[in-house]
Amino acid sequence: MGEAMAQGLMSKKLLSSKSITVAEPRQERRKELEQKHRINVTANNREAAQTCKILVLSVKPQDLDGVLAGLKGVLQPDQMVMSIVAGARVSTISRGLAHSAIVRVMPNTPAQIGEGMSVWTATPSVRKDQLNQARIILQALGEELYVNDEKFLDMATAVSGTGPTYVFLVMEAMVDAAVHLGFPRHVAYRLVTETMRGSIIYAIKSGKHPAELRNMVTSPGGTSAAALYQLEKGSLRTVLSKAIWAAYERSKSLGEGKSPSSDINDINKAI
Ligand SMILES: NC(=O)c1ccc[n+]([C@@H]2O[C@H](COP(=O)([O-])OP(=O)(O)OC[C@H]3O[C@@H](n4cnc5c(N)ncnc54)[C@H](OP(=O)(O)O)[C@@H]3O)[C@@H](O)[C@H]2O)c1
Repeated sequence: MGEAMAQGLMSKKLLSSKSITVAEPRQERRKELEQKHRINVTANNREAAQTCKILVLSVKPQDLDGVLAGLKGVLQPDQMVMSIVAGARVSTISRGLAHSAIVRVMPNTPAQIGEGMSVWTATPSVRKDQLNQARIILQALGEELYVNDEKFLDMATAVSGTGPTYVFLVMEAMVDAAVHLGFPRHVAYRLVTETMRGSIIYAIKSGKHPAELRNMVTSPGGTSAAALYQLEKGSLRTVLSKAIWAAYERSKSLGEGKSPSSDINDINKAI
């Protein structure tokens, strides 16, 4: 994700390669990044943090504590920190770094090709010009939405952050169903992905409510009506709603530092 962000900023000519420094522990990865993008690389997080205007935290959640501990007290008040680490609260980052200007972002996987949806918030210490810089950086990953309360990030984690997973599962199920009918897999894949792509663009461009678009193609006694009957009978809407709620609860527990097992027990009790 860090590489996607740097790539997006460079391809949109918002930053030159020489104004980006990546701190990366693995030597072969540093070499790869340096050769591919001509950016500065270092193995030393503190060295990168000391000289930058904006510090982007893009490590896995399990590596965050160690990284924060190593950077504690290094930053000056006028530097801004932008974290895309899933589930990491602003208070955790702020305490861990002893720094108050924090932007927290929930991106999603399509950001890796500049088609992402990022939801973000900032602490009151982030200046107006820094808010604009944060927005420009996130626009390099696709669309962005600022929210004024961190609670919306847990909700966004369940909807847009985890959202691609739901889409990929539906995509996979439709491809398998088309193969079941008799299409070769590559044909099934093309039919499904092009149908999904076209339907989404059509829904966005038409501005119509999804139910209206669906009703337009549901003729009395037709194929859509027969398929919709089975989808409703199988409780598709309820299952999706429960899945999104479970992701929301999980996101909140991750932020509180709870383990996955305690959370699964809670969910099992609730179902
Ligand atoms: N992938 C997504 O679409 C997505 C979506 C939403 C949120 N996020 C969040 O974005 C963050 C990054 O995810 P990712 O998928 O880009 O993970 P990733 O590919 O594993 O990238 C993490 C990077 O951090 C480096 N790293 C590990 N320990 C470090 C340390 N101590 N100091 C400095 N760098 C260190 C890793 O280096 P090595 O390769 O050498 O281990 C790796 O280059 C995660 O917190 C994730 O929750 C990702």
